[in-house]
Amino acid sequence: MLLSPQAERNWESLCSVLEDVLEDQSHRQLFALELGSGTGQHVIRFAQKMPFVTWQPSDIEEASRESIKAYIAATHIQTVLQPVHLDASEPWEKWAGLSKNSCDIIIAINLLQYSSFKTAQGVINGAGKILKPNGLFITYGVYAVNGIITPSRNEQLDAEIRKLNPEWGLPDIDVLRQHAFGNGLRLERMVEMEDYYKCLIFRKL
Ligand SMILES: C[S@@+](CC[C@H](N)C(=O)[O-])C[C@H]1O[C@@H](n2cnc3c(N)ncnc32)[C@H](O)[C@@H]1O
Repeated sequence: MLLSPQAERNWESLCSVLEDVLEDQSHRQLFALELGSGTGQHVIRFAQKMPFVTWQPSDIEEASRESIKAYIAATHIQTVLQPVHLDASEPWEKWAGLSKNSCDIIIAINLLQYSSFKTAQGVINGAGKILKPNGLFITYGVYAVNGIITPSRNEQLDAEIRKLNPEWGLPDIDVLRQHAFGNGLRLERMVEMEDYYKCLIFRKL
C-alpha cells in the first residue's frame, strides 16, 4: 500500500466538496470514474463516506493499481471496483471499455498538472463523451489564472513539475474552461481549497 502524505492531508476537504455537490443525488446509486487514482487513498475514503457511489479507480501505472488493490483488500470496501489500466491521453474509446454516457462523475486529482496539454485535452474530450448528461467532471489541483501563477511557491511548483517533464505544468483555468465548453462541459463552480488549490466543477450540458 503506497502512502501519499498529501492525499492524507487533502482527502477530507475533497470529500466535503463531493458530498456537497452530490447531496441532492444521494438517494440514487451513482457511478464515478477516477482518473490517475495514484495510491488509492482518495477513492477508499470517498467510498467510505459516500456509499451511494460505485467507484471505478484507474491509473496508467501498475504500481498504483497494485496499491489500490491492496487498499481495497485491507478495507473490505464493497463499492470500489478493482482498478483498471486507463491512459487518459488515449482517445475515450480506449478507456477501459467504458461506454458513452455511462458515468455520473469523473474526477481527476492532481492529474492535469502532471500531464501534457494534449493529455488534458484528451481528459476533457473523454469526459465530454463518457459522462451522462448532467454528469460532473471534477478536477483538483493548482492552476494558472489568466496566465498568472500565484503565489511564488506555486511558480516554484510549476518549475519543479516542468523539470520532471517539460510538457507538464500548471494548466490555465480559462484555457481548460474554453476547451471544456467546446466539449459540452460548462464550468459551473470553482471551489477555493487550502494553499491556493482549487476544485473545478464542470457539468455536462
Ligand atoms: C501526481 S499523481 C496524483 C495521484 C492521486 N490522484 C493523488 O492526488 O494522490 C498523478 C497520477 O496520475 C497518473 N497518470 C499520469 N499520467 C496518466 C495518464 N496519461 N493516464 C492516467 N493516469 C496517469 C500517475 O501514474 C499518478 O498516479
